[in-house]
Amino acid sequence: MKIPNLFSFNQIMEKQTVMNMQVSQDYIKTIELFAGVGGFRIGLENISDYSKKFKVVWSNQWEPSTKIQHASQIYEKQFGYENHSNENISEVEVKDIPDHDLLVGGFPCQDYSVASTLKNSHGIVGKKGVLWWEIYRILEEKKEKAPKYLLLENVDRLLKSPANQRGRDFAIILSSLNNLGYAVEWRVINASDYGMPQRRRRVFIFATKKDTSFYKNLKNNSNIDNISKIGIFAKTFPIKCIEDKNILTDKLSNNLVDITNNFNRKTPKQNAFLDAGYMIDGVYHTSKVEVEYDGQYTVLGDLLQDENTVPKEFYISDEELERWKYQKGSKSIDRINKTTGHKYTYSEGSMGFPDCLTKPARTIITGEGGASASRFKHVVCVNGKHRRLTPLELERINMFPDNHTDGVSDTKRAFLMGNALVVGIVEKLGEKILDEI
Ligand SMILES: C[S@@+](CC[C@H](N)C(=O)[O-])C[C@H]1O[C@@H](n2cnc3c(N)ncnc32)[C@H](O)[C@@H]1O
Repeated sequence: MKIPNLFSFNQIMEKQTVMNMQVSQDYIKTIELFAGVGGFRIGLENISDYSKKFKVVWSNQWEPSTKIQHASQIYEKQFGYENHSNENISEVEVKDIPDHDLLVGGFPCQDYSVASTLKNSHGIVGKKGVLWWEIYRILEEKKEKAPKYLLLENVDRLLKSPANQRGRDFAIILSSLNNLGYAVEWRVINASDYGMPQRRRRVFIFATKKDTSFYKNLKNNSNIDNISKIGIFAKTFPIKCIEDKNILTDKLSNNLVDITNNFNRKTPKQNAFLDAGYMIDGVYHTSKVEVEYDGQYTVLGDLLQDENTVPKEFYISDEELERWKYQKGSKSIDRINKTTGHKYTYSEGSMGFPDCLTKPARTIITGEGGASASRFKHVVCVNGKHRRLTPLELERINMFPDNHTDGVSDTKRAFLMGNALVVGIVEKLGEKILDEI
């Protein structure tokens, strides 16, 4: 049968060009900083069923403490070498980072105070090696090409640090983003509150530029609505209604040196930033929140691999079990402070042992791997036998694909999962962002 020639060569080429343009326009060009093994990327690129898609156009990951770059190796194995940089972000020139719409990353919680203002172009001096200033540098040097959106993740302690001047560091982040023209929303989310398999509380931060619908929504609605209904976090992770009288509102100085020296000096032990909030035009509103969720829950027992496939080194002998019981049990130990010589008694209560299979997992920490008995590592009891969790199970607890970190030692895989995030949170946020854009 002769196939009718519906399109001329030129028409086909024209169509192809239009399609390519549409494809590239429909991508939300994303860069992933502090990429680890790519938790943000998996969450965002998992999202289907939308005409628009997130596409990571550049990523950066560099581990300062080791020569071998395990996280970066895994990242490259899973996502390819192209557009991945394994350099200290402080040494990357902004001109080498492609323009992008969204910047994502889980940056370390450090001391963000600034030393002084300088007459030179940057105006402020963040401490050397403090990685927040690397994000700031990218935004500042990109100028009008700076991304419209930022999605960041950090430990919830960020809202309270430093301990002797609570909130100062977060105030510096908010004020510096305000100076660059962003509105900022934040929310502390415990993944297990929304049915995900790990009790992991992290603060998520979403910043948006003036010409976005997110910014306009925040600008045009009341603070109650923004925190409890309209903001990205309330839409993605619902909360119960909040009351006006419970919202703290304050204006931030736009001088970072002033914030460094004076923020929350009068009530330094009181929290200035609560679990949910937003800042626009230098004014922030923040409130405690209560989760509203009646969906399904995934628990530790749902994620265990078939017992026949668990390598024998994960099992705990009877002799070792006593050491684990000691670590997990309540105890009081006499100690001496090495510097002051002060004698004191250190006490800790008992922990659930073994870990409950009908609850979500506890937070995975970087020291989760390795055979030595520890208070914080998970131990499960299946068919009467105690064992540690396998790397595959740790991946599942973070909602990573099975065997994502395969190729490095089990202890390293556990470390990488301790550093990572619960992918499901990013995926849900990504969907809501796509709904809106
Ligand atoms: C909290 S982890 C983020 C993990 C990531 N979200 C994931 O899913 O695996 C922070 C990452 O920043 C990396 N990092 C630390 N200092 C860095 C630097 N100077 N330049 C680039 N990456 C750095 C660490 O190696 C670590 O992998």
